[in-house]
Amino acid sequence: MKLGNEQIKGIGFEYNITLFQDFDGLSNEILQLSNLTNIVVVTDKNVAKLYLDEINKELKKLNLPVYHIILKPSEKNKSIDRVKKVYNKLASLGCDRKSLILAFGGGVVGDFAGFIAATFLRGIRFAQIPTTLLACVDSSVGGKVAVNIDKGKNMVGLFYQPVFVFAPIHTLSTLPLREWRCGVAEVIKHALLSGNKKLVEALNTTKTFKNFYLSEEVKTFILESVRFKASIVAEDEKELGKRAILNLGHTIGHAIESFTKYKKYSHGEAVSIGLVTELVISQEVQNLPSVVTQETVGTLKKLGMPYKENFSMEDLIKHTKYDKKNEQGNVKFVLLQKIGEPLWGIQVEESVLKKSWDMQRKL
Ligand SMILES: NC(=O)c1ccc[n+]([C@@H]2O[C@H](COP(=O)([O-])OP(=O)(O)OC[C@H]3O[C@@H](n4cnc5c(N)ncnc54)[C@H](O)[C@@H]3O)[C@@H](O)[C@H]2O)c1
Ligand SMILES: [Zn+2]
Repeated sequence: MKLGNEQIKGIGFEYNITLFQDFDGLSNEILQLSNLTNIVVVTDKNVAKLYLDEINKELKKLNLPVYHIILKPSEKNKSIDRVKKVYNKLASLGCDRKSLILAFGGGVVGDFAGFIAATFLRGIRFAQIPTTLLACVDSSVGGKVAVNIDKGKNMVGLFYQPVFVFAPIHTLSTLPLREWRCGVAEVIKHALLSGNKKLVEALNTTKTFKNFYLSEEVKTFILESVRFKASIVAEDEKELGKRAILNLGHTIGHAIESFTKYKKYSHGEAVSIGLVTELVISQEVQNLPSVVTQETVGTLKKLGMPYKENFSMEDLIKHTKYDKKNEQGNVKFVLLQKIGEPLWGIQVEESVLKKSWDMQRKL
């Protein structure tokens, strides 16, 4: 059953992001594409175990050869070292320029399979079938595809848009709590950046993670996030300017992840603390009313997300310097003047960072 859809349109690309209850409807989406020879489902072991039979049943309706490439889960495997193996596998399966790759999973699968699709035979078509909240509200939309190298995450990649995004939200029923939090942090980020009333309202009314996938809020989280992200990407696909605002909370968030060696916090948990800290910095530098920070902390508390951390800013500052968004060694921040009014590319003095960090500690 179709639950809603949104279109993304930029220079040289246009595609639909559709929310479905389950996989019923996927074959229709694929049928809109012409000249397909075969389909390759790229997924990870966890998703395959839960949903491969179900998606296969739907794909059978197409009467096309369907192949599977099942990756080991986790960020570690989104690596350039795995790429060659997958290219060889595609070649040995006889994939050609008319093959379609389905990136079926969370952001790791989406980024990796998208990278493969963008580069194999100089680019073949791919569609995103996101199965985590983060992938639904963020990574499946916008066309950033990438793999990691030893020196850092997402260091090798392209802007390469999918032919469609199909979000089967019943898959969110099996999402672990920490993964749900990853998505929620991005939704809060979108609400702060856009001031979108429906998002703010859904964040206020959403109560619990349990059975979240059956709630009205899940649809609002996804459709309004996608609407907002699509509008930014349409304006600035290659992140030469405004798209940078989507990094709100991430300068500090990434530094927290890096400082804690990617062990203590999931990405969303680190971003959650990052958002609060960057709101406090915004109070100091852009006169953001403190009520915005207080309300955001209230939402995070209600949702059981972390919002403050105690280690020293000196340690963290070192880690902000590694961010790949930095220019000529300068750390750049996205800050808010008001809800819905972000500024990007702002340098912040260390004394202000330290003061803001101390303020977030006391929240
Ligand atoms: N391209 C972009 O614009 C963009 C934006 C944000 C993040 N990202 C990338 O996304 C990645 C993170 O994505 P993620 O948070 O979805 O993580 P993920 O893909 O690692 O998925 C998280 C975990 O949940 C499991 N999983 C997936 N779907 C499930 C389901 N329905 N039920 C139960 N378990 C399920 C996965 O196997 C994995 O173990 C990072 O690599 C990040 O760099 C990309
Ligand atoms: Zn993020």
